[in-house]
Amino acid sequence: MDQITNRAIIPPIDLKDGGLTVEGVSKSYEAKGDTTEVLRDISFSVGEGEILGIVGRSGCGKSTLLKLIAGLDRDFVGRITLDGEEVIGPGVERGVVFQEPRLFPWLTVEQNVAISIHETRMPSGEKQELVASNLALVGLAGFETKFPHQISGGMAQRAALARALTSRPSLLLLDEPFAALDALTKMQLQDEVIRIWQSRKMSIVLITHDIDEAIHLCDRVIVMSPRPGEIKSVSSVEIARPRPRIGAAADAIRSRLMSDLGLF
Ligand SMILES: Nc1ncnc2c1ncn2[C@@H]1O[C@H](COP(=O)(O)OP(=O)(O)O)[C@@H](O)[C@H]1O
Ligand SMILES: [Mg+2]
Repeated sequence: MDQITNRAIIPPIDLKDGGLTVEGVSKSYEAKGDTTEVLRDISFSVGEGEILGIVGRSGCGKSTLLKLIAGLDRDFVGRITLDGEEVIGPGVERGVVFQEPRLFPWLTVEQNVAISIHETRMPSGEKQELVASNLALVGLAGFETKFPHQISGGMAQRAALARALTSRPSLLLLDEPFAALDALTKMQLQDEVIRIWQSRKMSIVLITHDIDEAIHLCDRVIVMSPRPGEIKSVSSVEIARPRPRIGAAADAIRSRLMSDLGLF
């Protein structure tokens, strides 16, 4: 059985479909008269309910790309659309989780989570219910009134995930969300993401430098090469869920990804 298919660059996208499309995206930073080309001609799509991984060495432009998709930086060439709508700024239909939880230290866990629907028009009772249900979803029921310094790093990252989920995004953007956690907590949270994804079926873009994380979570994995960041390959991970973390299928795709990353 061929576990790895579709190494070609993904063809142009049908804009009638839902999901994310990134077309011909290039990005340069200008500083002190110098131009650094960070991303060159990046094109891919993420289907509705698909988990797409992006792996690449540090500095190859992964976070830059994620910021463009999040709408946090509009200074780029190309076009990004979500469910047919061009991305022109941040929006509640895109939830973002970064490597650090980025919680406000002076707010409680539930207040931090409620921020994501602060501007959403909804009766306050409904907002409270939404926050409570999303905290329960990530396993933080009972910790609503704790402050960030009173909870562990893993719990803080769960709170960040709840904040990203509370606006019911159709796309979840994860930028190395578990990189700062210990190995066991990381594996636990990876499985939580799968469980949540199975109940919500949103699309996910997961940026990671952890190959095993990409193999465990993603339907397809893009490998980026650096300077400038370009798509080197796209691989499908056709391992049925719940996925075993070890085994021949995972080994085969790991070898492929490591080779594409230039690791051997
Ligand atoms: N705001 C910025 N101004 C100038 N250069 C930047 C800026 N942000 C990132 N870079 C540069 O762009 C490149 C890609 O960075 P980044 O997207 O953070 O990579 P990655 O997330 O893959 O580690 C790096 O060389 C980095 O130094
Ligand atoms: Mg980064």
